[in-house]
Amino acid sequence: MSENTPFYITTPIYYPSAKLHIGHAYCTTIADTIARFKRLAGYDVFFLTGSDEHGQKIQQAAEKEGVTPLAYVDRIVAGFQELWRLLGISYDDFIRTSEPRHHELVQNIFQRIYDQGDIYKGEYKGLYCTPCESYWTELQLDEHGNCPDCHRPVQEVAEEAYFFRMSKYADRLLDYIQSHPDFIRPVSRRNEMISFIEQGLEDLCVSRTSFDWGIPVPFDPKHVVYVWFDALTNYLTPIGYLHDKETFRKYWPCDVHLVGKEIVRFHTIIWGCMLMALGLDLPKMVYGHGWLIVDGAKMSKSVGNVVDPIALIEEFGADAVRYFLLREITLGQDGNISRDALIGRINSDLANDLGNLLHRTLSMAEKYRGGVITKEAAQTEFDASIEEMAAETVRTYTAQMEAMELSPAIRTVWAFISRTNKYIDETAPWTLAKDEAKAGQLDSVLYHLVEALHEISILVAPFMPGTARRIHAQLGFADDFDAARLVDIAHWGSVPDGHTVGTAQQLFPRIEVA
Ligand code: MSP
Repeated sequence: MSENTPFYITTPIYYPSAKLHIGHAYCTTIADTIARFKRLAGYDVFFLTGSDEHGQKIQQAAEKEGVTPLAYVDRIVAGFQELWRLLGISYDDFIRTSEPRHHELVQNIFQRIYDQGDIYKGEYKGLYCTPCESYWTELQLDEHGNCPDCHRPVQEVAEEAYFFRMSKYADRLLDYIQSHPDFIRPVSRRNEMISFIEQGLEDLCVSRTSFDWGIPVPFDPKHVVYVWFDALTNYLTPIGYLHDKETFRKYWPCDVHLVGKEIVRFHTIIWGCMLMALGLDLPKMVYGHGWLIVDGAKMSKSVGNVVDPIALIEEFGADAVRYFLLREITLGQDGNISRDALIGRINSDLANDLGNLLHRTLSMAEKYRGGVITKEAAQTEFDASIEEMAAETVRTYTAQMEAMELSPAIRTVWAFISRTNKYIDETAPWTLAKDEAKAGQLDSVLYHLVEALHEISILVAPFMPGTARRIHAQLGFADDFDAARLVDIAHWGSVPDGHTVGTAQQLFPRIEVA
């Protein structure tokens, strides 16, 4: 990679039909962590999230409350943005599909595809699931004749509609998927999409007349554009597809669309065909992550087990929640979360391993040296192994993060934290401090601990940005932490001679379990 290589990552745009839950926060946290890592590695990152505001479901919800759809979504979207602020989400733009810049783009694209003959008028007869905004055929329904995704009843609809000639692109799309192994990941999702296309792609109904909360079809405004056709194009709006060719060339094709597993189909098949129709490159990767389940059960309002991320953040702090989600769940697989597991991680990994390492180091530096750290001191027999492991940790971590192996990357850092804690026990600074002849060795131990913690603060920054900043400050570094880069810790010895550390403050209080 050369410095400033562009990197474009997106989350799905969320439906503002209700407050977001921990599953949505999980997806956005993954994307944020990858974006932060890429910035740390020197990439020129564009990270996009937003809200998918049109459709019948939103219109019905607004009617129920007796407000306009826009007033309804304004309030909920403000809540999304507040959640992202509390969770430390570093997005570069937030796209709302109700914005004029997005309307203009959707209409432009719809018109272009129509003009080239890939959208045509016909009659739609079918089964529609309003909560999922999805059309289904009889064959696709579940065993009770309900929506195969959410298992709620579908409605029969028949109306004049516009269709997108998806069938025309099926063979090209299949070739593309087969010749680009990284396009759909993980491989289980890729196989699903291949067999889906092999069953045959029908043309897609891309307009509705039964409600009007949507973007009007430019040449036939009693129709509104189908919400998925509208929503998928959000990824082109903020990077200048219409009005800023240079920025668009820089960031498109997108590096990663991170999405939940059930919407991989929309992002690879519908979006893939739309991009082919527009003559644009396909995204380099669509990654389908798994679902969070809570205490072994799917989250649902009726079961009453929906976890509110804001309540968790208020109780445990954003970084503990972020750390837990990223450490606990293997990307791409479903993962179970529970309050006990969260508290367990906070106490063992954060309060104990990381918190104690920082606290012990700073307390000893203060007690034995008034906080002043000396470089080029004598060596202890354990120093070389710490230096080697530091270098190895940065290498392994970088490779894992580049491969989006987030939980393994965390484990790599924690192995180094454990090794450094062990180094304290091996070198026993309290014994060295009693012997004047070992003053140089004591200096060396303190130097190694501060250097290791400086490295750790940078490595944990993508996962726990607030904690990284607090470690950095306690270590006595006054420089701007946002400017920190992985190259700063590529070589041992980044802490200057004579550096003065700050005072120890508790990073994570232990949570007492009743
Ligand atoms: N609006 C569409 C996306 C359009 S993108 C062009 C949508 N919105 S959503 O709000 O219903 O869901 C957004 C994302 O949240 C999906 O990727 C979905 O997988 C994810 N999750 C919803 N529940 C989830 C869990 N329980 N666990 C993890 N992610 C889950 O779909």
